[in-house]
Amino acid sequence: MSPRVLTVVGNRPQFVKAAAVSGRLRERLDEVLVHTGQHYDPELSDVFFEELDPPRPDHELEVGSGTHAEQTAAILTRLEPLVEETRPDALLVYGDTNSTLGGALVAAKSSVPLAHVEAGMRSGNRAMPEEVNRLVADSLGKLLLSPTEAATANLRREGLGERAVQTGDVMADVALRMGPVADESSRILERLGLEPRGFFVASAHRPANVDQPERLARLIAVLEAAAGIAPVVFPVHPRTRARLESAGSLEGLGRRGITTTEPLGYLDMTRLVRAARAVLTDSGGLQKEAFLASVPCLTMRDETEWVETVEAGWNRLIGLRAEALPEALGELPVAGDGSPAAEIYGAGEAGERVAAAVAEWLG
Ligand code: UD1
Repeated sequence: MSPRVLTVVGNRPQFVKAAAVSGRLRERLDEVLVHTGQHYDPELSDVFFEELDPPRPDHELEVGSGTHAEQTAAILTRLEPLVEETRPDALLVYGDTNSTLGGALVAAKSSVPLAHVEAGMRSGNRAMPEEVNRLVADSLGKLLLSPTEAATANLRREGLGERAVQTGDVMADVALRMGPVADESSRILERLGLEPRGFFVASAHRPANVDQPERLARLIAVLEAAAGIAPVVFPVHPRTRARLESAGSLEGLGRRGITTTEPLGYLDMTRLVRAARAVLTDSGGLQKEAFLASVPCLTMRDETEWVETVEAGWNRLIGLRAEALPEALGELPVAGDGSPAAEIYGAGEAGERVAAAVAEWLG
């Protein structure tokens, strides 16, 4: 009988990651896919299954939104019986969200070996919920699948090097494969009346940037500084939308050159990123996706886990300093000018390497 892996996903970026890995895993072993339900809106969840075609979840835990404690507790209490019932040989989690944390804790408490994809990423900032989730998943993980040199070095530094296998980044697989598909099939530029390279695309959802009104106002000032140069398209994450609404600042954005939209599916967002003059973001995934598309990125954080994008000169950390934007933008390369250094992130082979490493580990 093939070994059985129970994979836990729950958030938008994890559906993308599963799209790179699940198919490969299933060529080698039996996978049970569990969706925690942390992200449940169709535009944060269903659209990714439709566009990227990972296998449909076998089980849905429907935990929904809540405080960190509520959400994590709901994952624990709903996942534990499922692990008892399905008796997996290993549990696999991705990234750094509360769904990752819940999966990692259940694995440890149920004595099921844990594999962590995207291991070793560190921002050095423990005030971020994601940093805590990563530290827990890596310390509990028995197989640490690291995306980059820098991540592997972090694991070594923490004494976890023996469990590490460097695979490349699974999100990069999808970006490289789906980029040309998005260029062909998405009509988002036409729908929003945008010219290639004539606009910025922005995204923001980190609690540290959007939860406090004063920080949120500074974030809007960064987008406004960009809008003084070219129009800004801003697909708004539900967390950010709620904060903008309660600050009363959502309505006025259009007049300031910032066009807001609902959260976009993978293909529309990818098309926007690939056609933009630059990306403005606090997301990790978009920093990489911009880089792989040779599009410059201004990151609205003071640190990044994806240090290669900065070292290669395609990403600048401007925090929430609107006044830093024009100069930083001027120092970045021009979009489309250069070839993507895809090999840094595994050149599209990471999903295959993850699946091979998991199969060998359980073999
Ligand atoms: C989570 C992850 C973050 C990841 C992001 C990807 C944690 C701690 N954070 O943040 O690392 O980068 O996902 O997007 O796990 N909401 C909806 N519809 C949904 C889901 C959420 O409207 O389908 C709203 C709810 O009001 C909720 C808020 O968005 O309170 C935030 O949702 P949450 O589950 O906390 O995650 P994210 O902020 O998306």
